[in-house]
Amino acid sequence: MTPRPLIAGNWKMNLRSDEIRSFAEHLARTPEVADPAVDVVLFPSAPYLSLLATCLEDTPVEVGAQDLHPEQSGAHTGDVSAPQLLDVGCVWALCGHSERRQDHGESDDLVARKYRAAGDAGLRPILCIGETAEEREAGLTSEVLSRQLGQALAGGDTSESIGVAYEPVWAIGSGRSATPEIAQEAHAFIRTEIQRLCGPEVGCRILYGGSVKASNCRDLLRQSEVDGFLIGGASLDPVEFADIIRRCVGLGPSAG
Ligand code: PGA
Repeated sequence: MTPRPLIAGNWKMNLRSDEIRSFAEHLARTPEVADPAVDVVLFPSAPYLSLLATCLEDTPVEVGAQDLHPEQSGAHTGDVSAPQLLDVGCVWALCGHSERRQDHGESDDLVARKYRAAGDAGLRPILCIGETAEEREAGLTSEVLSRQLGQALAGGDTSESIGVAYEPVWAIGSGRSATPEIAQEAHAFIRTEIQRLCGPEVGCRILYGGSVKASNCRDLLRQSEVDGFLIGGASLDPVEFADIIRRCVGLGPSAG
């Protein structure tokens, strides 16, 4: 069965309290947010998780963390653990976003530990993977995706549903989204790999991320392998983000 599209906003290191409150108010006034044809989740910076969760209490919109530490507690200054994230109302967690791999040197091994820690604690992890422009030009895309998936899903994954975001590094923040065909091809490869690693029956949602906006979301979501989006820049504007949700609602499985 095709999963309901998941529309996720990754705010990165943006937005402060007042902006977050008015963003949540705007979403609460957007009826499509509560449409059963889509799921919506927002990933604010860690200090605002609790505030956002409170602001969204009366909506079905869920909250997620942009990162977590693989340990449950301990001497790790500046880090946040999965149990702490659950405690402040988080449901989701991103693992291995390319900006963390670049800015903080996160290895596939560390990302895999974070992914497993999130899942074990009861968060829904979204594993972020994707090739650089150089890797694509060198014909290494499949190899890179396979390596990034392999570490995190080694030994299978018992989650009800696996979450992966395909985010080609060259498409992130560049205004140059992958074409629907490129996204379709990469997602099909990722799905096959997940099934090879975790069994053919495993449920998975594969999001596309990289310069998604209101003007290109429908063409991307029409691809059978694209199960939703991880959206950076265009998720910072509540009007544009609500517009994306509105456009995706008409394409969700329960919309027929
Ligand atoms: P973008 O970012 O939509 O601004 O390209 C996506 C992401 O990094 O998750």
